[in-house]
Amino acid sequence: MANVPSPALPKVFVALDMDEAKVAPFIDALDGLDLGLKVGMELFYQSGPGLVRDLAKRFPIFLDLKLHDIPNTVQSAAARIADLGVGLTTVHAAGGASMLEPLGALERDDFKFLAVTVLTSMSEGDMAKLGVQDSSPAQRVDRLFNLAKSSGISGFVCSPLEVQALHQQMPTGTFVTPGVRPAGSAADDQTRIATPSDAMASGATSLVIGRPISKAPDPRAAAEAILAELADG
Ligand code: C5P
Repeated sequence: MANVPSPALPKVFVALDMDEAKVAPFIDALDGLDLGLKVGMELFYQSGPGLVRDLAKRFPIFLDLKLHDIPNTVQSAAARIADLGVGLTTVHAAGGASMLEPLGALERDDFKFLAVTVLTSMSEGDMAKLGVQDSSPAQRVDRLFNLAKSSGISGFVCSPLEVQALHQQMPTGTFVTPGVRPAGSAADDQTRIATPSDAMASGATSLVIGRPISKAPDPRAAAEAILAELADG
C-alpha cells in the first residue's frame, strides 16, 4: 500500500453531525468552497448509503463508521463503502493485523483507510477497567499506531495533541485531526483542542471541524475564515 497522502484531500472536512432535514440547506450554504464533509454514524444510520452517494457527487466525503469486526466482515463492509464514492473511511486499529492487512487491496488513489487508535473519550481509568496493560492512553496510541502502520495503513485519526509525535514517525502519512477550534470560538465538549493553523503546523494533513461551522450564525463565513487562516499559514 502506498504510504503517500492523497493530494486530492481537502484541508477541512466539515462534520455533518445533524439531522438529515438540516443537511441540504447547510451544504447549499457551503457550495463551491474547497471543503470535504464528514458523515458519521448518526447521519449514516438515519439516511444510509443513498445520501452518501448524493453528497459524494458534490464534495469529497470522509465516511466515519469506525469498522471493527472479524476480518471477513470488515473486508466485505469496506468493499461496499469503497463503492459509495467516498475518499476516506475509518477502521479501529484494535481490530488487529489480520483485520487491517487485507484492507490494502481495497485502497485506490481516491479511497483510503484511516485507523482510529484510542478514542479521545477513553481515560486511563476506562482502559484499566478493560484490562488494557498499557499504562497510559499515549502508550496505547503508540502501540496501535505501530500495529496499523506495520499492517499497511498509512492514514490515522488523531487529536491535535498526538499528531506531532505520530507525524514525526511517519512524515508521509495522512493525519486527520478533530478537536480543532478557531481562536476565540467555543470549545464545546472538546478538551484537547488546537487552532486550525496550529493543528496543521503540528503535522495534520486534514482537519475535522463541526460546530464552529455548523453552529455559526453564518456557516459559509465561518468556513471561509478558517480556509483563509489556513491559506495564510
Ligand atoms: O463539532 P466538533 O468540531 O467538535 O466535531 C468534531 C467531530 O469529530 C465530531 O463528528 C466528532 O464525533 C469527531 N471526533 C472527535 N474526536 C475524536 C474522533 C472523532 O471529535 N477523537
